[in-house]
Amino acid sequence: MGSLPLFPEQASTFAPEVDHLLYYLLAVAVFFTVAIFGAIFYFAIRYRRRSDRELPLVIHGGLTLEILWSVIPFGLTMVMFTWGASIFFNESRPPADALQIYVVGKQWMWKLQHLEGQREINELHIPLGRAVRLTMTSEDVIHSFFVPAFRTKEDVVPGRYSTTWFQPTKPGKYHLFCAEYCGTRHSGMIGWVYVMEPRDYENWLNGGAPSGSLADQGAKLFESLACSNCHKPDGSGRCPTLVGLYGKNVQLASGATVKADEGYIRESILQPTAKIVAGYQPLMPTFQGLVTEEGVLQLVEYIKSLGPQPGAPAGASVPVAAPNKR
Ligand code: CUA
Repeated sequence: MGSLPLFPEQASTFAPEVDHLLYYLLAVAVFFTVAIFGAIFYFAIRYRRRSDRELPLVIHGGLTLEILWSVIPFGLTMVMFTWGASIFFNESRPPADALQIYVVGKQWMWKLQHLEGQREINELHIPLGRAVRLTMTSEDVIHSFFVPAFRTKEDVVPGRYSTTWFQPTKPGKYHLFCAEYCGTRHSGMIGWVYVMEPRDYENWLNGGAPSGSLADQGAKLFESLACSNCHKPDGSGRCPTLVGLYGKNVQLASGATVKADEGYIRESILQPTAKIVAGYQPLMPTFQGLVTEEGVLQLVEYIKSLGPQPGAPAGASVPVAAPNKR
């Protein structure tokens, strides 16, 4: 099918899976379209009215027919459902060892950040064969990150993080589109994804002159926003320690428990009163408007980089995020 310009190149592990499902949908649709149109023409001729006084035979249903036309479509659509759901779930569950990339969409460009500190606009360089996980948000309206060759399309929504992943299988240069109408220059919100041999990728990573890793940038921001005045590493501050927070379950004052993922950390920075940690006061001011989405991502990455708390039992609840006075 590659020679037909109808289908984009297959350049990720998802591409053949998605295409096979599409072929199945097309086959079912074409088969029934042809069968129905064929039957219409056949019946129109075979059972045409031959005289004005002719009356057709009256029939009162047929059990076998009714069972057949219920069971067969049911089976075909259940195949569509389970096959589609399995691809969907697979696409929404990145493997643990995936390469992390952060994406911020804004009218009208893509901003991409690597953990090593490299930042790109409308270009993404990634290594061949490695799973890549994207954590994405928007500074303004809804965008959609679309790489046809990878069969990857995921909405990028303001106010929250969305995640997707893919594993490139072929080196090359692939189109990146915004697939959600987002304003007058939506059509210009495009870019390129470069899939490089791992060695070339290492060279590319080392080639730039980034201002420290993303976590380092986050650490600087953490200091400059004076977060460290309250969030002390040993937990002695007025606010929960952030050491070992990421991935832990946090006990809230409301009695609920939340998992400290990227979305929770982001929310705690921008809307600190949304989820108060048990045992702490809602003292923390909001940083909405003071930190850009890229800044929030740097802070998230910094907090992720803070190792587990010394002496804390694995899997323990660590109090976190929140409150403090300035
Ligand atoms: Cu961004 Cu369309």
